Amino acid sequence: MAVVGIIPAAGGGERLEADVPKAFVACGGKPLVEWSIDALAAACDRVVVAVPEGWDGDVPGPAEAVAGGAARSESVRNALAAAPEAKIAVVHDAARPLVTPDLVEHCVAVVEEGWDGAVAAARMTDTVKEAGAELRVLATLERSRLWRAQTPQAFSAELLRRALDVDAETLAAATDDASLVEAAGGSVRVVEAPLENIKVTRRLDLELAEALLRARAGAR
Ligand code: CTP
Ligand code: MG
Repeated sequence: MAVVGIIPAAGGGERLEADVPKAFVACGGKPLVEWSIDALAAACDRVVVAVPEGWDGDVPGPAEAVAGGAARSESVRNALAAAPEAKIAVVHDAARPLVTPDLVEHCVAVVEEGWDGAVAAARMTDTVKEAGAELRVLATLERSRLWRAQTPQAFSAELLRRALDVDAETLAAATDDASLVEAAGGSVRVVEAPLENIKVTRRLDLELAEALLRARAGAR
């Protein structure tokens, strides 16, 4: 079955405050996105990367580039449109360099079993409060049922295409692809991810990711 890796890498990285788009910031000796490209290429037939519009630099490693969109989900849609042969699509953010081929394969296997989607996720360790006006606590949520959704997220490509076929406002409001697939009626399961599958958002995350990548290289 054709498994295509989709990497949204078209964000500007405002919170990181670097002088190049986040995906192309140096991390552990190579562009941040290259870690994800290498991990996905090891587990997929093909990898398509959505890059910032007008980006004329190289896409490192074994991947093809397409222009991203204004919102993350638009970037995913553009990349998926370049892979009409995909039966399973694995979406993974360039911002998570610690992804492994193992985790990608685990998510793909869940879709091969018949689920419409599989989402890498981490258990909540903090207690979660819902707060309203004046920051008054309205509820304490049941932690044992809560997960922090990450990427990779694997889907039946057909259903993901359908889920992404919504208006620009809905696309812009979606913070992950699974939520769109859920809204389209798809069955989605979580896959517990290793603790190190962190997201690079700010400077501190970049330093943490570099330390974890160094530790991983040292452990080999
Ligand atoms: N992304 C994308 N297209 C967009 C916006 C985001 O492909 N229009 C990608 C980013 O490149 C990143 C992933 O989606 O790999 C997750 O987004 P985020 O971590 O928010 O990255 P940025 O949008 O680049 O960062 P910021 O929100 O701080 O500007
Ligand atoms: Mg963003």
